[in-house]
Amino acid sequence: MSFNATLIEPWSGYIAQALPSPRYLFYALINIPLLAVALNALYQLLPRDRSLPPLVFHWIPFVGSAPAYGKDPIAFFTKCREKHGNVFTFILLGRRVTVALGPKGNDFVLGGKHTVLAAEDVYAPLTNPIFGKDVVYDVPNEILMEQKKFVKVSLTLDKFRAYVGMIEEEVHGFLKTDPTFLIYQMNDINEWGSFDTMKTFAEMTILTASRTLQGKEIRDNMDKGFAHLYSDLDHGFTPLHWMFEDLPLESYRKRDAAQAKMSEFYQSILRNRRASGGSDEDDVMSSLARQRYRDGRALRDHEIAHIMIALLMAGQHTSSSSTAWTMLHVAEHPEIAEALYQEQVEHFGQGEGQFRAMEYEDLKKLPVLDAVIRETLRLHPPIHSIMRKVKSALPVPPSLAAPSEDSVYVVPAGHTVLASPALSQVDPLTWKDAEKWDPARWYDQDGAAAMAQREYDEGTKVDFGFGLVSKGTESPYLPFGAGRHRCIGEQFAFLQVGTVVASLVRRLELRLDQPFPEPDYTCMMVQPKKSQIHYRRRHFD
Ligand code: HEM
Repeated sequence: MSFNATLIEPWSGYIAQALPSPRYLFYALINIPLLAVALNALYQLLPRDRSLPPLVFHWIPFVGSAPAYGKDPIAFFTKCREKHGNVFTFILLGRRVTVALGPKGNDFVLGGKHTVLAAEDVYAPLTNPIFGKDVVYDVPNEILMEQKKFVKVSLTLDKFRAYVGMIEEEVHGFLKTDPTFLIYQMNDINEWGSFDTMKTFAEMTILTASRTLQGKEIRDNMDKGFAHLYSDLDHGFTPLHWMFEDLPLESYRKRDAAQAKMSEFYQSILRNRRASGGSDEDDVMSSLARQRYRDGRALRDHEIAHIMIALLMAGQHTSSSSTAWTMLHVAEHPEIAEALYQEQVEHFGQGEGQFRAMEYEDLKKLPVLDAVIRETLRLHPPIHSIMRKVKSALPVPPSLAAPSEDSVYVVPAGHTVLASPALSQVDPLTWKDAEKWDPARWYDQDGAAAMAQREYDEGTKVDFGFGLVSKGTESPYLPFGAGRHRCIGEQFAFLQVGTVVASLVRRLELRLDQPFPEPDYTCMMVQPKKSQIHYRRRHFD
């Protein structure tokens, strides 16, 4: 006799009565979500506490405005600002995110005290599994400030001087050997080839960063497995991994395995260097090994390893997407490409396509190159949203936004606050022809661009623990952030992007044969959607 016949059948009548009929189940499945949507909409129509910033209307509880924000955050913020002003709250997958726009919004979020506005509470779920233990957002803010100082002091002028030549060599080597540049390699033909923008600049960026910042051993291993580890780690650097800390998916497992292997790889380099009586290499890693925390403690090997991974990740997407956007604009504007080329000829030309080597000091004397990069970062800062977690209720300054003349908004503890320099950098209230890529705006010393840059560079100086920096939080132009979390890679990034662009412009003519690509907001850093740049080797006879 079967299991069903003995146990289930005698009870089947009762079970059938106790269970809802399939028809009821069907209605429940349809109606419960509808009810949730209706109650959620109704709740939003009820009078609200007037001290709370206005809430962006959304239909689906929990999901909130995630689809609109994820698709195009700048368009979403612009629309919300038209309706609610500079400060409003939206729901992002269950989180309450209060946005503060404009230069005063930048100041409110980036200039806040870290006891009230914490970056680590927002970023740690994404970065801790990638960087590893005891660094960056896995440590109290004072320790992060010390770690930033350690990196900053290892990026000396002497190193920058050496890096320019190394980057140029890597770029030239890439043109001479990578199959993408076959047409370049066939010296005597005069045809146009093309390359995939993001893929090419991601590769060039990791090669140039590993040759310079990361050190010899990492560069030597780039072709022998390190690139695979990096790729697995990188696939864990997505909005999904940020929003959901741990899911039973392959990408999470690969991320964790790659982190462990990479950490061990850096630590083995440190051990080998010590075993061989100290390395001759004067690179960031060896400089970190010489540093001491304020309490006299040296950095442990795993901390050095994890800081190196953090630097690799922090610099990779930001610099590669910035180079990609720059080259796309240059390819779209032959007159600017020509101005860049002529600038190279003027400063370095030795006739017949021969150029003397670039030096760090030279980069500061190339106004066209400088303006081209600044203007690209204005339109395409890689980080569109800078966020902090609110630890205790925070009043909004009335000069930023207020419900009425005699009351203020208060952002409750537990909210996330968000600033978007990406929006203030294209705000028509500040910038003439705000959406137009126009490097010339940076030549006008009395123009909005120069004023924004001065506000950023020359404002009150503060030492948050990693050396004196200008506070700069109220500038409308903040591609490198501001305040205590300000980027420490700015100078290196300018050097890296500038040298790559100059090395390419010296050797290639460029052309864009397609509509200018849209930004892809589905990645962690905004990069151009799939696109091709056409190139032809420059001939000098
Ligand atoms: C912080 C942008 C390149 C290392 C930041 C922040 C921004 C930024 C906006 C502030 C984030 C926040 O306030 O939450 C950029 C751009 C780059 C670039 C646009 C290139 C074009 C680099 C490079 C490195 C680097 C090459 C490493 C050498 C860092 C570090 C922080 C930082 C360590 C500090 C994080 C903190 O204090 O919380 N960057 N970055 N960045 N960046 Fe960069």
